[in-house]
Amino acid sequence: MTAKRDAPRACLLLAGMKERETEWLHAFSIQAPDMRIIHEDEIDAPENIDYCLIWRQRPGLLARLVRLKAVFSLGAGVDALLSDPSIPEWLPIIRMAEPGLTEGMVEYILWQTLFHHRRIWELIEAQRRKEWRPHNYPAPWDRRVGVMGLGVLGKAVALKLAAFGFSVSGWSRSAKEIPGVLCYNGRTELASFLETAEILICLLPLTVETRGILGARLFAQLPPGASLVNAARGAHLVEEDLLEALRVSHLSAATLDVFNEEPLPPTHPFWKHPRIFITPHNASITDPETAIAEICRQIARLEGGLAPEHTASRARDY
Ligand code: NAP
Ligand code: GLV
Repeated sequence: MTAKRDAPRACLLLAGMKERETEWLHAFSIQAPDMRIIHEDEIDAPENIDYCLIWRQRPGLLARLVRLKAVFSLGAGVDALLSDPSIPEWLPIIRMAEPGLTEGMVEYILWQTLFHHRRIWELIEAQRRKEWRPHNYPAPWDRRVGVMGLGVLGKAVALKLAAFGFSVSGWSRSAKEIPGVLCYNGRTELASFLETAEILICLLPLTVETRGILGARLFAQLPPGASLVNAARGAHLVEEDLLEALRVSHLSAATLDVFNEEPLPPTHPFWKHPRIFITPHNASITDPETAIAEICRQIARLEGGLAPEHTASRARDY
């Protein structure tokens, strides 16, 4: 790990990290011992803080940190940070893009794609009934998987699914060329993309344009019997539209990692739905080891007068 040698002397605040704070403090002490790391209860001199690594921010916190040079989001999604009006517009917000987070998402989506491809729930239900019931499934190259969002995560996911042998298409805002992946872009190509998606994977950022995109209109354009995997944000999904699409069997099943309200309330109908499979917003988790190396690399860029990479754009909303 080269982060230790490269780490500049700087003061970094850990904010909104909750139960993960101790783990991160420990990781920083090993990988970036020259950096001064403080947590929210220790802010004695806000003017001495250069950087902040943040997850669930307290509104207004960052506006107090007058010497802040950049904010690192603990997650890839920066929707919460971008919707905080107290964060100065000029302050760079750096999205988390690090190999641990990417590989975790690739693993999760491959797992869920295989789960839906093989309709594993039918085997589990048959086992409960003690029924020996083999069912057919196509070869991976005859299974069409559609990935919404071809950014850091979506591109890595699409490449892995294609390498595995699935027939993969992807959809993004701007045009892309990804080997082995049929790429669509923009609203005008959304319908053509959706026609190809027997398993639809959502890895979009949450923006004004993508909020509620997983709704009745979109579901109607998917092939009958399609499955949905949403590992992006809960607000992409119109929950009642999913329940209805499953009720009329237009959709077969869904895996949801993210929800409008987290933790998902105990009374929520998703918990008991036989075709909804739930994971608790842990499709992928930022890995302190690989992430700290990336944070140190970005700080070295900033301290050297270079622009940081993976910055969120307020104009794009992600
Ligand atoms: P990213 O690199 O910013 O990629 C976003 C992709 O979405 C880009 O390809 C972008 O198109 C596309 N996009 C944005 N707006 C669009 C629109 N209106 N129409 C079509 N495509 C659009 O983001 P990422 O790092 O891959 O992360 C994606 C999301 O995953 C995050 O925002 C977060 O919500 C979620 N996430 C969830 C977990 C979890 O554990 N569940 C973990 C990490 C991340 P362009 O390429 O043209 O810009
Ligand atoms: C997790 O949800 C992330 O945005 O990284």
